[in-house]
Amino acid sequence: MICASPLLENTSLPISTQKRLERLENHTAKVGVIGLGYVGLPLSMLLAEAGFKVTGFDIDMTKVEDLTAGRTYIRRIPQEEIQCALGRGFKATNDFAHISDMDAVIMCVPTPLREHREPDLSFVEETSRSIAPWLREGQLVILESTTYPGTTEELVIPILEAENLRGLKAQGPGVPEEQEVFYVAFSPEREDPGNDTIARRDIPKVVGGHEAIATEMAAVLYEGIFTRAVRVSSTRVAEMTKLLENIYRCVNIALVNELKLLSLKMDVDIWEVIDAAATKPFGFHPFFPGPGLGGHCIPIDPFYLSWKAKEFDFNLRFIELAGEVNEAMPGHVVNYVAEGLNKHNKAMNGAKVLMLGMAYKRDIDDLRESPSLRTMELLRERGCDVVYNDPYVPMVGKGRKYNLNMRSTPLENLDQYDCVLIMTDHSDYDYKQIVESSVLVVDTRNATKGIRSRKIVRC
Ligand SMILES: NC(=O)c1ccc[n+]([C@@H]2O[C@H](COP(=O)([O-])OP(=O)(O)OC[C@H]3O[C@@H](n4cnc5c(N)ncnc54)[C@H](O)[C@@H]3O)[C@@H](O)[C@H]2O)c1
Repeated sequence: MICASPLLENTSLPISTQKRLERLENHTAKVGVIGLGYVGLPLSMLLAEAGFKVTGFDIDMTKVEDLTAGRTYIRRIPQEEIQCALGRGFKATNDFAHISDMDAVIMCVPTPLREHREPDLSFVEETSRSIAPWLREGQLVILESTTYPGTTEELVIPILEAENLRGLKAQGPGVPEEQEVFYVAFSPEREDPGNDTIARRDIPKVVGGHEAIATEMAAVLYEGIFTRAVRVSSTRVAEMTKLLENIYRCVNIALVNELKLLSLKMDVDIWEVIDAAATKPFGFHPFFPGPGLGGHCIPIDPFYLSWKAKEFDFNLRFIELAGEVNEAMPGHVVNYVAEGLNKHNKAMNGAKVLMLGMAYKRDIDDLRESPSLRTMELLRERGCDVVYNDPYVPMVGKGRKYNLNMRSTPLENLDQYDCVLIMTDHSDYDYKQIVESSVLVVDTRNATKGIRSRKIVRC
């Protein structure tokens, strides 16, 4: 066999590491993916497709049962893909004893915020504890969950070292040659849900190991499924890279949101402005305003860094300000609904409002941190009678913050509503038809661009 990795030719590596590297390189490795959600399940599918023997681990038995029966629970992963993976040997389980058979294990568990915006690393901690007793020499452990720089070294490695039963240490600086080791790396997930313009495998994968062999092992694994792995010098650099990307988005979205509010007062069309600015062939990247931030990443991840920064007596003002601006957006939307109703001689109290779109962005079914949830709550507080329609979200149940308990209502008889509020610009909607059939349309996404009607309030 011709080995692409020069490390495979490094004979000073322990035999078990050499064998695992070889299996990673020729796609015969056994790979465990822990956390079969929006990140872990698609990753498992890519690995299975490339020939790796994949075992998915999750504590949610419904997911394990669904996958074992060949059923999907993520819209963009079709049933056939699961069934095909099962045919290739993919298994889902909640039994962590199988970790000991794996060559590599990838953690894709949630990293939410606690109530006061502190990082909640309990899932990462718990997963590290589930892996530790089953760790074997030469295994590679990768963290993919988004988190602050230092998590892999300060949280994951200490648990794996303290709680494994064989006295293994993470390979790293100062570890003696005779010590039996495992390898640890961090590699952020960079998926953009709902974006079909780039294939997932064409998004370069950043990889930073706790030391060089870990980086190389992880890069070799990811090069089996992604067109390019970008090797960086440490887990901290890889962790910070992901945060920089998300903070960049969060701050720029806050900036256009604030400029939108001013533009509305100045009677300037901000979307036209952005389109014009985007013709500049350098130095400008367009971001678009909306009703607020949503998703599991952009509204949350920046606060992982601002929390960590406090340890260094450092106050990240950009992040705090961006958070403030973005979080205020649902309140502005509600004020524009009130203004629109007012022009129709309607009070907020008792007004019938249909919200279009609960998902946090176009053409996806993800409700996490969606500004529609907060907006619905605020409208209800002001006395509106609110229902919603979303082709991707048949039901909104009890979440961490909201208990809306509501089903998507059919998109019909729009003239029965005092206001139709466009929150998510799903491409399934026929916006011309919606405007024609409605009394008042408040559009937070410029979805009605090009439609001329006095019924529309763009905000
Ligand atoms: N969703 C995205 O688009 C996206 C993009 C980039 C990065 N990320 C990051 O990836 C990570 C995972 O996000 P996600 O969207 O896949 O979350 P998710 O909630 O969709 O999935 C997480 C899965 O982990 C499982 N889980 C929780 N604790 C576990 C444990 N102890 N052992 C085994 N399984 C456990 C849950 O049951 C769930 O199935 C987060 O850190 C997130 O910030 C997500």
